[in-house]
Amino acid sequence: MKRNPNMTLLQDGYLFPEITRRKNAFLSNNPEANIISLGIGDTTRALPTCIAEALADSANALADSSKYTGYGPEQGIGALRNKIAEVIYKHSVDANEVFVADGAKCDLGRLQMLFGSDVSIAVQDPTYPVYVEGSIIQGVSKIVRLPCNSDNHFFPDLDSAERTDLIYFCSPNNPTGAVASREQLQALVSFAKKNKSIILFDAAYASYIQDPDLPKSIYEIEGAKEVAIEIGSFSKLAGFTGVRLSWTIVPKALKFDDGTSVHADWNRLMTTLFNGASNIAQHGGLAVLEKNGWQAIQEMNAYYLENAAILHRALRELNIQVYGGHNAPYLWARFPGRKSWDIFQYLLEEFHIVATPGSGFGDNGEEFMRFSAFANRENILEATERLKLCCGAELL
Ligand code: MLT
Repeated sequence: MKRNPNMTLLQDGYLFPEITRRKNAFLSNNPEANIISLGIGDTTRALPTCIAEALADSANALADSSKYTGYGPEQGIGALRNKIAEVIYKHSVDANEVFVADGAKCDLGRLQMLFGSDVSIAVQDPTYPVYVEGSIIQGVSKIVRLPCNSDNHFFPDLDSAERTDLIYFCSPNNPTGAVASREQLQALVSFAKKNKSIILFDAAYASYIQDPDLPKSIYEIEGAKEVAIEIGSFSKLAGFTGVRLSWTIVPKALKFDDGTSVHADWNRLMTTLFNGASNIAQHGGLAVLEKNGWQAIQEMNAYYLENAAILHRALRELNIQVYGGHNAPYLWARFPGRKSWDIFQYLLEEFHIVATPGSGFGDNGEEFMRFSAFANRENILEATERLKLCCGAELL
């Protein structure tokens, strides 16, 4: 059996397992080190009781033969599709345009399968690695990187951008924490329309947008339903990174160039390769979108945003240039002239802090570190105290 040649094109390890490997290597020589993880964006707050109870009730119902359920609809249970359309999208999308799934990453992989290998793609650089690496696994060879840096306010220069079939776009952005304005998203939608491209809009961090002028969904932009698919997730919205629940919106108005329906093909693919998200997770998702659950997760999101604000202040006090962290759970800190893996190692060894090296997100991430605000407050405060000890001098 020959190895899939696409696999040979990937770099050695995926970013986050590599970070864990280095952290564990350090820990094996320094077992007493109290490491604070501000690396992978993994939620740490306990679930609100009303949501945990809904998960438990759903699990318990499986032990009752009168309530037991097996497979559900591949697209997700109707009540949850309705509730997503109502609570998240205020009915700007139809419930049958909502496809519930087991995680944004999984749906990204299936979307890559939907479009196949004979496509060109564009990504922001820096970018969430799954867009690029999943496409490479799929056999995509034409990958255009659109530089996003402080000079262009982390929004690509669309006037000079090359046309591609697909455009991946993430706002609030992972990793930079930049949030695209309404005007910027309007420009992106016009660009996609002009070029007959499809936007894959990753809205996994949309719940962190507090500024009412900033769009939470691409569908707030007129005409977006003809050019965009949106991926949403309960992971960062509600602390479901381990529970696993997400959704993808595939509008009925979205067509391939031969006029056939993308929605119909997505439905075909999902009913073939997916048997629906866990019924337990879906009942948890329903509880998130009920009044009490929704209120509780606003508090959870506000907690992480306060963490981001604390980190932001601490980095600024050290005279470190820092972006993001407002309306977003990630901070993007610049260390001019330094290699980000060197900074990673320095933070790990000297301060026992793990952050994510920016170069893991693309060439434009070199000199940057990403700090995640998904930690407990004590750890955030302790990390800021440790960072203050260095007065910033060694970091700059
Ligand atoms: C991240 O840290 O970038 C994310 O948590 C990874 C993910 O969502 O897969």
